[in-house]
Amino acid sequence: MEKISLRDHDQEGNYRHRRAISQRHNSLLNWLRWGIVVALQAIIITLLCVRPKAEMRDLLDTETGADINGLYPTVEHEYKRLKFEEDLYMPNMTSLNDRDEVRRRWDKLLPRGSGSVAISDYKKHPLLGEPIADDPIRTGPLFEASWTHALHCLYYSVDQYHQLVLKGPTGEENTHHASHCFEYLRTSLLCNLDMTLEGSYSANRESGGQAHVCRNRDQAVKWIEDRRVDELQDIVGS
Ligand SMILES: *[C@@H]1O[C@H](CO)[C@@H](O)[C@H](O)[C@H]1NC(C)=O
Repeated sequence: MEKISLRDHDQEGNYRHRRAISQRHNSLLNWLRWGIVVALQAIIITLLCVRPKAEMRDLLDTETGADINGLYPTVEHEYKRLKFEEDLYMPNMTSLNDRDEVRRRWDKLLPRGSGSVAISDYKKHPLLGEPIADDPIRTGPLFEASWTHALHCLYYSVDQYHQLVLKGPTGEENTHHASHCFEYLRTSLLCNLDMTLEGSYSANRESGGQAHVCRNRDQAVKWIEDRRVDELQDIVGS
């Protein structure tokens, strides 16, 4: 048996004691280190998982004029020479004869269902807000694409102008609706800011029109029609 002197024994004990303290110290540091690592990872994962505010997220993945909720993803663009077709879409300003015929042509510019779409899970998209509440013929979780609303407003303005030119003011004009439509179109134009640079082609019928980059209309119409609630195509909206 090895003989250990008291002194050695003391030193050994001391050493062990110090080693134990230092081990505790080390394991505490280790825990602390891991604690910090885990806490930081948790923060990172939380930041990744918690979706940024809808506004922020959607601004990153949504192009101008697309739905901010990401419901309508634009697939294709096309470039088009925008053509003037007054003979089809402008009424004869000296007669009422073609009023209905012109209106039917505007009707046909709308998707079936007049642009109304049913979005049953609308509550999942806070920026959508509440469904349309004042549709005289349709009910349900209805929303409408902005361009069909704008088209309605433009037709309303054309038709009201037509009436006013022919009959003069009658006092029965719905100036409130007209103001709403003018403001609707103003804000829409200022939001979309079509930056197509125009020269003489823009006002020149013979040139075939200035080339613009447009969203593919057939695709947008299909998306709308897939969610329509009826078959009506009505630019005035009853
Ligand atoms: C508009 O209607 C009037 C009266 O019916 C007609 O004489 C005229 O030719 C029409 N104008 C156009 C551009 O069709």
